[in-house]
Amino acid sequence: MEALHRLSFRLLPISLAERCLLTASTTTTLSHAPTSLFKAANSLFNGNLTTTSKSFSSASTRRVAKAGWFLGLGDNKKLSLPDIVKAGDPVLHEPAQEVNPDEIRSERIQKIIDDMIKVMRKAPGVGLAAPQIGIPLRIIVLEDTTEYISYAPKEEIKAQDRRPFDLLVILNPKLEKRSNKTALFFEGCLSVDGFRAVVERYLDVEVTGLDRNGEAIKINASGWQARILQHECDHLDGTVYVDKMVPRTFRTVENLDLPLAQGCPKLGPR
Ligand SMILES: *[C@@H]1O[C@H](CO)[C@@H](O)[C@H](O)[C@H]1NC(C)=O
Ligand SMILES: *[C@@H]1O[C@H](CO)[C@@H](O)[C@H](O)[C@H]1NC(C)=O
Ligand SMILES: *[C@@H]1O[C@H](CO)[C@@H](O)[C@H](O)[C@H]1NC(C)=O
Repeated sequence: MEALHRLSFRLLPISLAERCLLTASTTTTLSHAPTSLFKAANSLFNGNLTTTSKSFSSASTRRVAKAGWFLGLGDNKKLSLPDIVKAGDPVLHEPAQEVNPDEIRSERIQKIIDDMIKVMRKAPGVGLAAPQIGIPLRIIVLEDTTEYISYAPKEEIKAQDRRPFDLLVILNPKLEKRSNKTALFFEGCLSVDGFRAVVERYLDVEVTGLDRNGEAIKINASGWQARILQHECDHLDGTVYVDKMVPRTFRTVENLDLPLAQGCPKLGPR
């Protein structure tokens, strides 16, 4: 799931935003940060979402590759990070398989987990499921940080009950609701780049599964963390958020702040 909020549609760590700004043909200068930083970052990602981010990463890849021989930056591991699979690829629309607990400590599974964490952080996003890097296994990673949250408006953080939590890696997760309370908010997905829709999610969930050492874990989550867990566990069943969005709320990121159409339910807890 993308790190989301209303103003900075696709969250950029400051350093990445700055690098984008420095490479972008924008008239906004960094002296107006942070507001203009996000405006510029937004316009960058809105107007030219795919082309810009793609050309940015390939340009920087090329730069590293070219400069690497004398700067010592030729880190092949970094360059070979998997791409995020986009909607339409069957791997995102079919159920994933359980990981054999005996294989969790294998090099292969550990490498998949490491790749997932790197891809999630690079995006950046607050959650990622293995099918999103093309691996049909039941593995999810998630994390929300003080930095990501600091970019969101205070009222929204409160309404969404969004609090930072440390990196979680869960294999073969089983999710159960802990109450019938739900909330409606916009969410987005790294595999459905540039769009948002309202999804109704449970507010309190319990997730059991295995950690990356194969030990049993149990997570009791509420608010935004519960939403992320539901979004990621859905991926393992081949469900993308658009499969359960509130009809007529789907929109581009640029239109996120436009009012909901008549007849749509109000955002917030129900
Ligand atoms: C998007 O990027 C392309 C090339 O990178 C540029 O030619 C075009 O003007 C940009 N469009 C907008 C809306 O900024
Ligand atoms: C949720 O609602 C159903 C009926 O609508 C009820 O049977 C169930 O006990 C409720 N669960 C919780 C956890 O409150
Ligand atoms: C689980 O979460 C609820 C709130 O949703 C909290 O009251 C309870 O103490 C938590 N239990 C554990 C074991 O963390």
